[in-house]
Amino acid sequence: MMSYIRKLSNPAGERNKNPILEVLKKFLDNSEPGKKLLEISSGVGLHAAFIASHFPNINIQPSENDPVVFSSIDAYRQEANVKNLQSPIAIDISRPCTEWDNDHQLNFQTSAESFDYMLNINMIHITPIECSKGLFWNAARLLKKGGLLITYGPYAVNGVISPESNVNFDASLRSRNPAWGIRDVTALEKLSTENGIELKQTFDLPANNKCLIWEKVKGLQDT
Ligand SMILES: C[S@@+](CC[C@H](N)C(=O)[O-])C[C@H]1O[C@@H](n2cnc3c(N)ncnc32)[C@H](O)[C@@H]1O
Repeated sequence: MMSYIRKLSNPAGERNKNPILEVLKKFLDNSEPGKKLLEISSGVGLHAAFIASHFPNINIQPSENDPVVFSSIDAYRQEANVKNLQSPIAIDISRPCTEWDNDHQLNFQTSAESFDYMLNINMIHITPIECSKGLFWNAARLLKKGGLLITYGPYAVNGVISPESNVNFDASLRSRNPAWGIRDVTALEKLSTENGIELKQTFDLPANNKCLIWEKVKGLQDT
């Protein structure tokens, strides 16, 4: 099975995929074909393949900013052997979709308000704030009205990071890159509201992570 050699391991993903799946089952409509999900920062491709195999009626589009992992995403895709999982595309989420240069694949012109769901796992805390800003800005343009953005990772609440292990994790992130760090849910809500997106529900998941469900409540034509 030469094609699987490029598959990179993801121990954290193996641990969090089932708790995330249980949340997704509450919100993703797999009842009939036609729904579309765009994953931002797919990493090695574990979640996209796992989720595609559990939601065969939902078309899953993985994406990454780092081209090094493309072959791994494709290897997970080949192994999953499902029809509803696309090859990865290049997306730098800090950039506006109106300027994405992968226009033969996905951009605002071809994909405005076309996605039912967007998924972003473990990116917000480990990227500069421009990526979070871009995530909400682009979700506002690519999601259908009523569409959901689902994010997963560690978050602060009302300015408090807890427990101590997350405080230490935040410090280690910031020491690696001062622009990184665990974001506060309220600060993210400010970014979302500016883009017509509201926090709908929050789930506490294992390892002191949360899954946040955001809903695009305003269409692009709404004033
Ligand atoms: C901790 S990894 C998480 C990967 C995967 N979602 C997972 O949970 O295994 C963070 C990911 O964010 C991606 N990333 C960094 N900057 C980005 C950007 N500007 N746009 C999109 N993704 C980015 C990295 O390439 C990396 O794959």
